[in-house]
Amino acid sequence: MRVVVLLGGDSGEREISLISGEYVAKALAENGHEVIRIDPAANEAEQEKLNAGLPEYIHLKFPVFSLKPAHPGAGFLKNILAIKGMKPDIVFNALHGTHGEDGVIQSMMEIAGIPFTGSDSVPSMLAMNKELSKLVFDEAGLPQPKAQLLRTRNATRKKIRKLPLPQVVKPSDQGSTLGLTIVEKPEDMDQAVDRAFDFGSKVIVEEYIPGRELTVGILGERMLPIVEIKPKHAIYDYECKYQSGMSSYECPARLDEELTRTIQTLALRAHSALGCQGYSRVDFRLSPENKPYILEVNTLPGMTGTSLLPKAANAAGINFNALIEMIIEFGLEKYRI
Ligand SMILES: Nc1ncnc2c1ncn2[C@@H]1O[C@H](COP(=O)(O)OP(=O)(O)O)[C@@H](O)[C@H]1O
Ligand SMILES: [Mg+2]
Repeated sequence: MRVVVLLGGDSGEREISLISGEYVAKALAENGHEVIRIDPAANEAEQEKLNAGLPEYIHLKFPVFSLKPAHPGAGFLKNILAIKGMKPDIVFNALHGTHGEDGVIQSMMEIAGIPFTGSDSVPSMLAMNKELSKLVFDEAGLPQPKAQLLRTRNATRKKIRKLPLPQVVKPSDQGSTLGLTIVEKPEDMDQAVDRAFDFGSKVIVEEYIPGRELTVGILGERMLPIVEIKPKHAIYDYECKYQSGMSSYECPARLDEELTRTIQTLALRAHSALGCQGYSRVDFRLSPENKPYILEVNTLPGMTGTSLLPKAANAAGINFNALIEMIIEFGLEKYRI
């Protein structure tokens, strides 16, 4: 098959996507496909370098977050139309974050009639937008931390200041723990809210759930073994997510059979409630009383060497190349009548 791999993009998670995309492209080539890499935010010269495999596009070790990634919007539309002309059998979307994971590029491909892997535009938008996900989870009776929403920077913060601490302050539509702070002292609340507004248009303030950090991969109808994350920092932040050695992992997580089943089922229910397709990864906190709380669903989870979904798949006997092939197959299935 001819497969276009989308990587890079213009989100705060650009660097991670470049790495995810390289892993995906390599696996696809090894699986015998014809692979074309497209960075939708690249201009023509950069796009040429990308397919020539130049080092500025690959061999990124520890991704460095930049608030204003290169070339916001540059050529985005043109690049999508160019993909149409390449007549791929399918596009493998290895983007993360704004424009890539939030339903925007999905809408563009839907309009252009380009088949792509993963969730369609609406579930992508619902999942990336924590404000909307929370409404859907509530409706579905899924457990999640109690949260307040700040719609604008200038909205009154009276209620927020009265909440019992610690609270977690985060932008409603970002990933990779960008703009997230745990507030433990009342005097730190304002700054945390301001910081979150630097990263997103709305801000969520939610109860801090102590305990363990878990994530569950969904592959088709399948619930993968649970991964427990043990970050070196108090939270699973940007550094712990992407710098090797900054977290240790256990898969399957040490949980009894019943609790494992309960958490896996919650993950599948969250995935289905949002209407996600093909695959996703659902993040949880598990309180010291063993009560699970859903944090979010990632529709385009990381696909790098240290990423969690590939780890979980591996524990289920699915190696990376087989995982990529399954994601392609689920993608193609969306277009079969
Ligand atoms: N309510 C919470 N209680 C405890 N830790 C939290 C909470 N919300 C977020 N975190 C920590 O921050 C990390 C990132 O939060 P998450 O909601 O998954 O957003 P992101 O989209 O940035 O990954 C989590 O993996 C967890 O370590
Ligand atoms: Mg997360």
